[in-house]
Amino acid sequence: MSNFHPGELDAIARHVHTPFYAYSADMIRARIAGLQNAFRGLDIRICYAVKANPNLAILQLMAGHGVGADIVSLGEMQRSLKAGIAADRIVFSGVGKTAEEIDAALAAGVWRFNVESADELQLLQHVAQARGASARAAVRINPDVDARTHAKISTGKAEDKFGVSIDEARRWFSRGASLNHVRLDGLHAHIGSQILDLEPFRMALQRVEAFRRELVEAGHAIASVDIGGGLGVVYRPGIDRPIDIADYAALVRETFAGFQGTLALEPGRYLVGEAGVLVTRAIRVKHGTDRHFLVVDAAMNDLLRPSLYDAWHEIVPLHGRAEAEVAYDVVGPVCETGDTFAQGRTMARCEAGDLLMIGGAGAYGASMGSTYNSRPLPAEVLLDDGRYAIVRRRQTLAEMMAGEQLAQAWHET
Ligand code: LLP
Repeated sequence: MSNFHPGELDAIARHVHTPFYAYSADMIRARIAGLQNAFRGLDIRICYAVKANPNLAILQLMAGHGVGADIVSLGEMQRSLKAGIAADRIVFSGVGKTAEEIDAALAAGVWRFNVESADELQLLQHVAQARGASARAAVRINPDVDARTHAKISTGKAEDKFGVSIDEARRWFSRGASLNHVRLDGLHAHIGSQILDLEPFRMALQRVEAFRRELVEAGHAIASVDIGGGLGVVYRPGIDRPIDIADYAALVRETFAGFQGTLALEPGRYLVGEAGVLVTRAIRVKHGTDRHFLVVDAAMNDLLRPSLYDAWHEIVPLHGRAEAEVAYDVVGPVCETGDTFAQGRTMARCEAGDLLMIGGAGAYGASMGSTYNSRPLPAEVLLDDGRYAIVRRRQTLAEMMAGEQLAQAWHET
């Protein structure tokens, strides 16, 4: 969280209602540049996984640096296009693409579809045919490797819903000729998220590359290999040891040394995860029978990761006072026991009104937010070079209820 200066956040909190998300443009740019440099010389496309943080200003940063998008919905496509990401830099992933979504993505001219089932492949053929279009497609391989990450964010094992087995993919290619509106000439694999260990990547990429060679020998042209996202970041300073990007790039170079086509990457968390904090204000300290509760104005609806995955996020008071340390349960106002950001976390003593920052909130923070307990979505600000821009204002209560109405107009079923 060293990119965030307490004084700066404190000043913003005088104008922006807490809780709010703050993102560092500098840090995002540094991550983009780091990745681009590591792969320099290769034909590589970085397609940012929009789900990590879909704020238009974040996408605008990506667009400005030539980064494309990995999308999983029309909403993500609209956002990407609006922020200036060219359609031919967009890959469309996801197991549940509908005919409507496929049609709109074809109309927009997305680069490729990462296809995850035989049914979807057929649908792609039909929708493209009806449009008189040709769809570029990659098959998402499920390489059956254990990403050694949290079970809820592991996606590359045979039992997971994602992708198809190499055996099935082989059959798709041998029947490819019957798909006259789909150009199936790509491979895709994404094995999970917050991966801190190079070995699962090595295993998955080797399987993909071995399969690619086999396909080429059988006479199929493979134009692109998309190696997914998944690079982990530091949530626990001194404990989490992320993969060195140079090692990752070296593995990719070595594995795909014989490949002449385009390599695609779909990083989400790596680009934005550490570049965001959630700023929250202490409402009160409540001393329970045997615990001290620090009740803050952010809650599980704003940042779900601790409740959903028991994820550990750094929490630092901004007051900077040299106070004795206290072990707090840091909790939000939502009426669930799971609305807990940390248990027994030791930090300088806090009091009502103090500001705190919760780290590692740039990815899967705001994007997973909801209005549970009828709490409006928080503001988001982008910090850049001593300035800040409000890139999403806090939702008003009227906006939160927009679209709802009392049951007055009834329709016959
Ligand atoms: N590509 C595909 C096909 C994906 O499904 C994902 C993430 C990514 C790329 C980007 O993965 P990343 O580079 O960010 O690891 N909500 C969870 C993470 C879910 C990830 C879903 N898919 C969390 O908060 O940890």
